[in-house]
Amino acid sequence: MNQSGLHVAIIMDGNGRWAQSRNWPRAAGHRAGMEALRRTVEAAPKLGITTLTVYAFSSDNWKRPAGEVRALMALFRNYIRRETAKCIRNGVRVSLIGRRDRLPLPLPAMVDEMETETRQGRMLHLRLAVDYSGRDAILAAVREGNVGNREEMSARLGPDVDLVIRTSGEQRVSDFLIWESAYAEFHFCSPHWPDFGAADLALALEDFRRRNRRFGATTAA
Ligand code: FPP
Repeated sequence: MNQSGLHVAIIMDGNGRWAQSRNWPRAAGHRAGMEALRRTVEAAPKLGITTLTVYAFSSDNWKRPAGEVRALMALFRNYIRRETAKCIRNGVRVSLIGRRDRLPLPLPAMVDEMETETRQGRMLHLRLAVDYSGRDAILAAVREGNVGNREEMSARLGPDVDLVIRTSGEQRVSDFLIWESAYAEFHFCSPHWPDFGAADLALALEDFRRRNRRFGATTAA
């Protein structure tokens, strides 16, 4: 746990299956996933979460059909247009983690602008992982230099994660925050991401608070 509160990371899985089960296009699942993200961002500060990192697009997701990639990029633009003002009002600081140089224009500039406009937010730090790979993030930090120990690497990559949540029944890490989650707890739940809401987030935190975190040491007597 960082000083101010919990860092929760979410692998928002199951948009495609949610849509397919309704005979809808996968893009409709991603649209509904965006609504679930909105609900989650609203619920997070009330549950003691101060940093929320969500996996929106992995560097391996470029392998998906071009139409689906386009739909996701359109959603990210949409999210920035529609949510920036609300984030400022609600004290949500937004950052992007991941590569920006492969994102279609004008997305990189829109991301920069959202980061600047929301930078005073103190209620919640929302980190959107887009074109993100945990392995690549580590390699990039090493290439940039001055990462001779754990502290320097952590300072470069970002805060340690307390809890990773993955929806939709899958139990994999999928190259998400692999350094930062070294001592994270994991909560896997069955709802597809578009069905995830405040009650599911509260359940995940209840589960987390029952865990006995030892960080490699023995339990205190
Ligand atoms: C995984 O489900 C989900 C994604 C690859 C995309 C996540 C994106 C959103 C929730 C959209 C909103 C995000 C922002 C930042 C606006 P999947 O498609 O792999 O589902 P499947 O495993 O059922 O096929």
